Amino acid sequence: MKDQPDNLTSILLPQARVALHVLDDQLLKAVEELKADWRFSRITFELHKGQVSSAISIYQTTESPELVIMETPTIDDSLTQQLEDLAQHCASHTSAVVIGPVNDVYLYRRLIQMGVSDYLVKPLSKNVLADVIARTLIEKFGNSESRLITFMGAKGGVGTSTLAQVTAQAVAKTLQQKTIILDAAGGSSYLTISLGLEPVTSLKETLRALLSTDQDAFHRMIQKVNERLSVLATGADLVLDDPLAAEGFEQILDRLMETYPVVILDLSNASSSIKRIAAARSHEIVIVSAPILPSLRSARSLMQEVKDIRGGEGKDIELVVNMTGQAKEFEVSKDDIQKTLGQDFLNISFDAKVFHYAEIQGKNILDVKGSEMMVQGLLDLVQKVISSDQAPLKLTEALKPASFLDRLVKTVKGS
Ligand SMILES: Nc1ncnc2c1ncn2[C@@H]1O[C@H](COP(=O)(O)OP(=O)(O)O)[C@@H](O)[C@H]1O
Ligand SMILES: [Mg+2]
Repeated sequence: MKDQPDNLTSILLPQARVALHVLDDQLLKAVEELKADWRFSRITFELHKGQVSSAISIYQTTESPELVIMETPTIDDSLTQQLEDLAQHCASHTSAVVIGPVNDVYLYRRLIQMGVSDYLVKPLSKNVLADVIARTLIEKFGNSESRLITFMGAKGGVGTSTLAQVTAQAVAKTLQQKTIILDAAGGSSYLTISLGLEPVTSLKETLRALLSTDQDAFHRMIQKVNERLSVLATGADLVLDDPLAAEGFEQILDRLMETYPVVILDLSNASSSIKRIAAARSHEIVIVSAPILPSLRSARSLMQEVKDIRGGEGKDIELVVNMTGQAKEFEVSKDDIQKTLGQDFLNISFDAKVFHYAEIQGKNILDVKGSEMMVQGLLDLVQKVISSDQAPLKLTEALKPASFLDRLVKTVKGS
């Protein structure tokens, strides 16, 4: 098993078919449990009581799935022969994982060379199985390195867009990560303008370009703010137009995550369906609230809804209470916020000198004196999902499960 940060797989997995050809009842039971896990809600599991031979016979007549997991009781030459047979019947998009009886490093290497994505040894816990499925699919769909960090506001005007931008600037400058920021607000997005650029497209046009054969058109919609920070330059949408459907938005996200290690998403003014999909797909969700009761109540509900979408897990949901001190006498105290919301939060003071000055002068807040603590606070909040293992998963080319069939064919031809 390869090491990896656990937040990598704590996301909603892409739609895919995963077939298991196993005899072990415990494994079958583990799969039943995975079906109820929120991360696997788009996965169709196909369970077959059998081994590699059952997979061979089934995929002679039906299309093979994205991932096939097979149990083998023996690890002699007949296994590699069977896998070669299997590959002849698998589609090129199929990845394979083998579960065997003993730990054998030579066999492991041999199988990996053949294009098998992983070799696991019995007994297998539900968590290990979950992890290998998640990792194989994430790698397969091409965004294994990228981290999606989403900002949502408890209500409008609490500074969500501003803090998303500051975070993007800081991640690019201080953490030196190639970063992109995008806003799902359509025609009411000021993101591109506040980054000193002109909107050149709408979300719908972006999706059309992405789906067209002219990929240059899509690339022109991405503008560089500086060496490491880019923005999807939307905002030219019609203000009264309907929002882009969540499925289309997700396709845009997927494409950006193929290229950018860090994707920052501003959902201060997005549709509920986009918020839902982002809540499930993000590695981290930052919820911004003002320190006043109506905003905090709405933050609490939003946090609970996001948590429910993430299967009851709240560990990657962060709270920022922004603009404290603006109207002291009406604000809820820090202790009471902590008690009522039941979690720590980042406190950011109201600071007209920094925020309004930057906005009016069109300056990057990072360059405005007095912003340092606030910037560091935001960095601390997101750093845990970015810095843990931002380098690719240190996969060797051979471990990338792009195509079981292709690699096997190459190995057979070369040997
Ligand atoms: N901590 C702060 N102190 C002072 N002004 C702030 C602060 N945070 C945000 N602002 C200002 O509040 C206004 C609204 O922010 P914005 O990010 O557009 O909110 P939202 O996206 O939540 O609607 C902007 O003018 C921004 O500069
Ligand atoms: Mg906004």
